[in-house]
Amino acid sequence: MNNAPVDMIISGGRVIDPALGFGKDAHVLIRNGAIAGIESDVQKLGDTSGATVIDASGKLVVPGLIDIHVHLREPGREDEETVESGCRAAAAGGFTAVCCMPNTSPRIDNQETVMFVQDRAKNADARVYVVGAITKGSEGKELSEIGDLVKVGAVAITDDGHWVENSEIMRRAMEYSKMFNIPVMDHAEESTLCASGIMNESFESTRLGLRGRPAVGEEIAVMRDIALCRATGARLHIQHLSTRRAVEAVRAAKAEGIRVTTEACPHHFVLTDEAIAKEFNTCLRVNPPLRSADDREAIIEGLIDGTIDCIASDHAPHAQEEKDCEFDLAPPGMIGLETTLGLVKTYLIDKGYLNWADAVAKMTINPAKMFNLPGGTLKTGSPADITIIDPDASWTVDQSKFRSMSRNSPFIGWKLQGQVYRTILGGRVVFEREA
Ligand code: DOR
Repeated sequence: MNNAPVDMIISGGRVIDPALGFGKDAHVLIRNGAIAGIESDVQKLGDTSGATVIDASGKLVVPGLIDIHVHLREPGREDEETVESGCRAAAAGGFTAVCCMPNTSPRIDNQETVMFVQDRAKNADARVYVVGAITKGSEGKELSEIGDLVKVGAVAITDDGHWVENSEIMRRAMEYSKMFNIPVMDHAEESTLCASGIMNESFESTRLGLRGRPAVGEEIAVMRDIALCRATGARLHIQHLSTRRAVEAVRAAKAEGIRVTTEACPHHFVLTDEAIAKEFNTCLRVNPPLRSADDREAIIEGLIDGTIDCIASDHAPHAQEEKDCEFDLAPPGMIGLETTLGLVKTYLIDKGYLNWADAVAKMTINPAKMFNLPGGTLKTGSPADITIIDPDASWTVDQSKFRSMSRNSPFIGWKLQGQVYRTILGGRVVFEREA
């Protein structure tokens, strides 16, 4: 009999934990910051007197969501986001853990910078797992000290923002990553074809007179990366997959048994390049760019058949004054932590493409497994990282409510379904939706 004090009971919600194959109405008991049990019959949880009760009737109770692609901008651009503000945004979006990208200033390519970010995250509202740079300064010339990065806790490596053009360097990065059992994440856009492009190369880019980033650039990059992954036996993770051909290449690689995983971002399964001409909203500039309707369809097909393992926001805060300019001068990227869940519900679940269990798996246990992260499940003994979702809430994206320090979302003013009700981190309520 465990006599430790009862912390909290989440009562009466529908508990969905894909890792446990669990999906029914139940009560979740939290004790000392960990999951102490899940039972449909509250009596079976034993003495729960003194527990704080959260009434979750009509809500979904799921493992804390995990976002493996987030830019926290610290160190260097604390005017756009800090570890603290980014984690507040994460909590508001239902994420209890994020993996932060190394394209800060300075780059996260050494132990000191990894530890600096970890230190900033100590009391934050989400767990922060640091991803180190593949090459020093992400310049693509010299490998970072990958073993050193892993020694202090880096969970993966990437030069996100840039493709690692030099295949020999990428091969060596994969060989090292294999020794340390971490995935190599790649921003797969072949640089000679894509680096100077502003939007998807298409009829639209020609009509608008904007330089194109062709889909074939992603296809080539993904195929090169898969070839190196096959040759080295490393774990490859393709970031923000956006084209049909790339989805097909990954599907074939997986069928062959190659250790490749992928993510899709909400903007790639919700928007297409046609949105740009409508408003020239610089928040629509992103790399890889918004693609064609056919590409968008292929991303959804990849999400449905499991070619795409997880959903990640690519939360990329940018200062208002840098986005207030001509489309081709704006820095690429959009924020996403606080809109991802609503976009998943509205554009994947309500459209009948994914059910809740599949969508939750792509934001919990799948990323946890791929990146060897704790969490992603409500199994007894796991940290009590929990997201409570109001699946029926209708809401309008309101920039004045963002916890992020930046406002660069193309979804401002959009009506979405499904909203976070509470976010719980290690048994502590870190986000509570006001009634
Ligand atoms: O649009 C993007 N913005 N793509 C990236 O790969 C980097 C990101 C950023 O850091 O702003």
